[in-house]
Amino acid sequence: MRFFIDTANLAEIREAKAYGLIDGVTTNPSLFSKESENWRTLADKICHEVDGPVSLEVVGTTAEDMVREARDLAGIAPNVVVKIPMLMEGLKAVRQLSEEGISTNVTLCFSPSQALLAAKAGATYISPFVGRLDDTSSDGMELVNQIITIYRNYGFKTQVLVASVRNPIHIVQAALMGADVATIPFKVLNRLSRHPLTDAGLTQFLEDWKKTPGAQG
Ligand code: E4P
Repeated sequence: MRFFIDTANLAEIREAKAYGLIDGVTTNPSLFSKESENWRTLADKICHEVDGPVSLEVVGTTAEDMVREARDLAGIAPNVVVKIPMLMEGLKAVRQLSEEGISTNVTLCFSPSQALLAAKAGATYISPFVGRLDDTSSDGMELVNQIITIYRNYGFKTQVLVASVRNPIHIVQAALMGADVATIPFKVLNRLSRHPLTDAGLTQFLEDWKKTPGAQG
C-alpha cells in the first residue's frame, strides 16, 4: 500500500519524506488555506519536493471550468493529479481529462455508487472520505470495502485512495482490505509507529545496558 501525506505544509512534507515513507501528497483548498504562502508558489514547491503524485484540487463547479483549471494545474509539474469533486459535471471533466492524459482524483466520495461512476468515467483515483463518514455514524471503512469489491468485480483500473484518515486503525483496515493508497495526516503518520510496549521495552534495555560489564563509557 502506498502512503501519501495529506497536507500542504512543506515542513511536514519534508519531514515525512525524510522518513522514507511517503509516495505522494494530497492537498485540498482547506489545507492550502492554513498556509501563509501564495498557493501557487507553494504548489509548485510541493510538486518539486516529491517524486510521486501530488493532488491539487479545482474549485470550479462546471465541467468547462474544471477542465480549464485542470489543464492549468497539470502545467505546474508532470506529477500533478487533478482533484475533481464528485459531481455529474465533475465526471464529464474526468472523462475529458482522461482522454487528454491528465491524471484525476475524484474527491468527496461518500457512496459506492459514486465510486462506480468515477471508475466508469476513467478516474485515476477515487477518494472515499472515511473519517467524515464515521463522523455521521456511518462506517467509512465499509465503504472502502464495497468499492474494492466493485472494482475487482469489473477489473476497473481506478485506484482506491483512502482519504479523511483520522487514526492508525483506518490505515490497518485499509491495508487488510487491499486499498491501493492511504493519504495520511502528519500526526497520524507519527502515531502509526507508536506503541507503549516499544517505549517501555527500549527504556528497560537501555537501563540494563548501563549495568552490563564492559558496556559503560
Ligand atoms: C484528501 O484527499 C482529503 O481532502 C482529505 O483527506 C480530507 O480530510 P478531512 O476529512 O480530515 O478534512
